[in-house]
Amino acid sequence: MSDALVQFNDVTRHYIVGNDVAFALKEVSCSVTERQHVAVMGASGSGKSTLLALMADLDVPDFGTVIWPGIGEKTSLRPKHVSVSFQAPSLLPSLTIQQNVEVPLLVLGEDRVGNSSLRALDRLGIAHLRDRYPEQISGGQAQRAALARAMVAKPTLLLADEPTGQLDQETGQGVIKNLIEWAAEAGSTLVVATHDPQVASKFPNQWRMSFGDLKTGVL
Ligand SMILES: Nc1ncnc2c1ncn2[C@@H]1O[C@H](COP(=O)(O)OP(=O)(O)OP(=O)(O)O)[C@@H](O)[C@H]1O
Ligand SMILES: [Mg+2]
Repeated sequence: MSDALVQFNDVTRHYIVGNDVAFALKEVSCSVTERQHVAVMGASGSGKSTLLALMADLDVPDFGTVIWPGIGEKTSLRPKHVSVSFQAPSLLPSLTIQQNVEVPLLVLGEDRVGNSSLRALDRLGIAHLRDRYPEQISGGQAQRAALARAMVAKPTLLLADEPTGQLDQETGQGVIKNLIEWAAEAGSTLVVATHDPQVASKFPNQWRMSFGDLKTGVL
């Protein structure tokens, strides 16, 4: 097996709205290898969320291919191998914060889910909110809960889309530090889309997107 967890071969994704064509990704080729920690930077609309959605198999290319050589069959990707914390709010409103975080573990049929979910929440500084419902917490707290849900099953590849977008600088830095430490302990590979250069500076690999073009690089 290749050590590339996910590989893009000349991937193009475009949207047609009326007479407009927006190229979210233009012939992008890249790969993410095991235990790599990658920050994807770029202006608003440059294609970061599209890139992550394709990595998670939540979207499909118009041209080119996405494959997961280091993981295996596509059908078994989520939530064991690939998990996502989305840019937009994504918690289930009828579940408490802790129950939300436990969803991937229940899908995987794990028992004793309470300890793991509490540890993930604690790691992100929101364990005290475990019995609240999503409508009873702030946007930044909900974002951290969604990140805890993505972390809890220790996936092979964790994709986080703007995980600090709604956080103040100090809280955001703390979340990123804890996320990176957790990934190192869990042996997980991380891809984080961010606008924040301070967040990106914590990652050894920094990729840049511009109008659907991707430049990969290593600091
Ligand atoms: N469902 C859609 N329909 C039409 N155009 C879309 C759609 N989703 C994305 N796009 C377009 O694709 C391009 C890339 O969008 P994408 O969401 O990947 O950018 P982004 O880098 O994540 O931006 P942001 O930093 O604002 O989150 C943009 O020009 C956007 O307008
Ligand atoms: Mg985005």
